Amino acid sequence: MTPIIQALANYSASDLARWHTPGHKGRASLPYLLPEFDVTEVRDLTPKSVGGDVIRQSEDLMAETFGASRSRYSVQGATLPVMAAILAATTPYSRVVVDRIAHQSVHSALVLGNLEPIWAYPSLGPGGYLLPVDDKERAQLIMRSQPEAVIVTSPTYEGLSSPLTETRKVCQEMNIALIVDEAHGTHFAEHQGFPQDALSQGADLVCHGAHKTEQSLTQTGLLHININVLPQLAKRVDELWDMLATSSPSYLLLASLDYLQYIRHQEQYHRQWVNFAVGMREMWKTWEAQGLFILQSWWERHEGGQADPAKVTVVGDGHKLFEAIEPFGVEEKSDPAGISLIVTPQDDPAILNRALKQCAGTMPHRNPLTEFARFWPQSSQALLPYQAWKAKREWVPLSSAINRIAAKPVIPYPPGIPLVALGELINRDVILWLEENHEWYRRGTGDLKGLESAIEGSSPQRGEEGLWVVKEPAS
Ligand SMILES: Cc1ncc(COP(=O)(O)O)c(C=O)c1O
Repeated sequence: MTPIIQALANYSASDLARWHTPGHKGRASLPYLLPEFDVTEVRDLTPKSVGGDVIRQSEDLMAETFGASRSRYSVQGATLPVMAAILAATTPYSRVVVDRIAHQSVHSALVLGNLEPIWAYPSLGPGGYLLPVDDKERAQLIMRSQPEAVIVTSPTYEGLSSPLTETRKVCQEMNIALIVDEAHGTHFAEHQGFPQDALSQGADLVCHGAHKTEQSLTQTGLLHININVLPQLAKRVDELWDMLATSSPSYLLLASLDYLQYIRHQEQYHRQWVNFAVGMREMWKTWEAQGLFILQSWWERHEGGQADPAKVTVVGDGHKLFEAIEPFGVEEKSDPAGISLIVTPQDDPAILNRALKQCAGTMPHRNPLTEFARFWPQSSQALLPYQAWKAKREWVPLSSAINRIAAKPVIPYPPGIPLVALGELINRDVILWLEENHEWYRRGTGDLKGLESAIEGSSPQRGEEGLWVVKEPAS
């Protein structure tokens, strides 16, 4: 039996459009994907701490295309860059201002670094989608809380972005590191028609999930270091990288990043993205005229923000939208208030148009601004994430979890943003959200981590649902 291979064969045979990562969509040419290239550190391929090697050579070529002083190749997605950047820029027990829309990898780094998060909260858009944190509000929070570093998530999972002007300014004035998790925006830099990339806005350390939209293989990521970063921080990043990265990197993955830097040097490649952005904005407009509510277009046209043309989020009845696109392709993310697609120049616009036409049929006389409102609970931090993780814990049924402290995060997947983070107080809104939404995530296309039965890690279907909370002292 080869269950994984069988499942992959079945998926490929279905011939469905892939509106999800990786950006090559199984359609781009991947000329380096050869069995004989599957090696790790041997002879001339071994990285050298002094002197230079082929990886360093390729990373420097990549840095050139991003305008970075140094770029590092990750074969552990964006997760390694996020962790290395945060741990390099902070010391244990220090305060960090963090966008609450951060991915789980950021939350994990807070535990590993024993950091105190001061959350910068987002507001909610149509369908309850999380909007980017407001630049000015974040800047004020930074001034008030005097953190050691700032961790921004931009763009959001749906590709919405806000400028970093004020945030950058206060970070510079206070001489603190600005780290940006730009996992979904590897393709922003140097392409007209995309949100302005974080590096060119002056961020110190920028993390990319290269595979999300670009043509590199799944599990590839990048960490870019700004030319203005203090040398000791750059050195610290390298040390952290050595601590956290595998010592047996896949050279197939590295080769795919090498190929990405090569095509990023080609004018034609940039032109392809620029034309794509024009085409996608026209598509947004066409389908809006047919009654679809497209979150990215709303963000640009009504809120004056910047949105990624490689994302299409249709807000509406998630069940109906899911049924509408199911015969045509596979979404990146679906939830009760809509579906989100990742589209790249590798996709066939004709199939996407057919699927969106079907979606338009689900929307008569509905107003997504008022009808599909969802909420996202906001909890208060009661313990540091590390303390909550180390504390003795107990399982309690959902009904008894109110006012208890989360000893395990609760994470809807995707987007991988904790609904309740470690150490947060579980309030009534959390329970309501779980009651309203848990069935969706159990349906098969996603997951809801942390909602478990009393036997740790097992499925709640087999027992009562509940959460792991910090054990209270016996009274
Ligand atoms: C905003 C954000 N940051 C980081 C990550 C982690 O990326 P990866 O899965 O490539 O490690 C993700 C993954 O979805 C993400 O959405």
